[in-house]
Amino acid sequence: MTFDVAAIRAQFPGLDDAKDGKPFAYLDTAATAQKPRCVIERMAALLGAEYGTVHRGLYRRAAHTTKLYEDARTTAAKFLNADRGEIVFTGGCTDAMNLVAHAWGRANLKPGDRVLVSGMEHHAGLVSWQTAGFAPEAIPLLDDGSLDLAAYDRLLAQGNVKLVGCVHISNALGTVNPVAELARRAHAAGALFLVDAAQSAPHLPLDVRALDCDFLAFGGHKVYGPTGIGVLYGRRAVLESMPPWRGGGEMIERVSFAGTTFAKPPARFEAGTPPITEAIALATALEWLMALDRAAVQAHEDGIFSYAEERLAAVPGLKRIGTAAHRTGVLSFTLPGAHPADLASVLDMENVAIRAGHHCAQPVMERFGVPATARASVGVYTTRSDVDRLYGGLLTCVRLFG
Ligand code: ALA
Repeated sequence: MTFDVAAIRAQFPGLDDAKDGKPFAYLDTAATAQKPRCVIERMAALLGAEYGTVHRGLYRRAAHTTKLYEDARTTAAKFLNADRGEIVFTGGCTDAMNLVAHAWGRANLKPGDRVLVSGMEHHAGLVSWQTAGFAPEAIPLLDDGSLDLAAYDRLLAQGNVKLVGCVHISNALGTVNPVAELARRAHAAGALFLVDAAQSAPHLPLDVRALDCDFLAFGGHKVYGPTGIGVLYGRRAVLESMPPWRGGGEMIERVSFAGTTFAKPPARFEAGTPPITEAIALATALEWLMALDRAAVQAHEDGIFSYAEERLAAVPGLKRIGTAAHRTGVLSFTLPGAHPADLASVLDMENVAIRAGHHCAQPVMERFGVPATARASVGVYTTRSDVDRLYGGLLTCVRLFG
């Protein structure tokens, strides 16, 4: 199967947004991906003549919607090579990470037990634990933005580690972490392993059996699907051992004022009417992605990323943050004399969209001694021309701020 970026782009109406004759260069896919027409049309259809409740209605429409919702679970399971009973629909990747910290953490962590998370976690992988009443320890980073694996081994050897959490691909640095190897070492130390796959799910085929992780989370809107929906994979035995986090409709077996018993997973973790439309349209996005040649998608994105690295290296004074040997997708940088927000504003005048800020990863900013970075990120539809527009805009920034 070949990869035709023009044919891909034609499916994304959100990219068609020229301003003053300047095409839209969308380089903020790490924040949220644009949507293919099949997802947009699926949502519209679902909100029309296919709309109904799930699991609660004894009539034809509700049965239809319930089947679509449960079929979406099967699709998400296929996407991860999991069993459908191991797929929990959540409100997003952040919500999935919070479910682990609050439900698994509170039931399993005793005083003295330790949780390790990488020093490059998105806030979802750190603050979720803190709000659940725990204080995870950081696995430190080397100067190139890779994990310090020797320090990881030392932290594990100190004992009592019950869970290790790590981003697969850092949203602030682009580092690709060796999560299968990290999971192997965690298991050898008696700890579970949680993967935050928010940035990797759109980029790489994921296989929870090959990664041998206990939890894996990703969000719908970064895999070209809707916002407000995410997936938590949990190994079956681990999910079955967890109490619910949120209480409400459909997560129960029997309710009384004397006490309540709970449904089996995944229903146990899906209290209330779920994001029905979003879950079903997420499945459309996942089917769309799986129908592409994933190796070709990865090669395309890696190729654009390498080209962008070359172009940024040619911008006078520009400093890259995140130069690990294994990196992709995300290019963080600073330019002397300019705040990253200034760079984003000048680029916006050129109709080039990047993100500027701490990227919900303040410990990473602290580690590299910067308040913020500018960040360009690559998606399935990104072209060399988008990168050339970024380069041109940055040369303007050099003239203005240099
Ligand atoms: N985590 C998203 C980002 O990196 C929001 O921009």
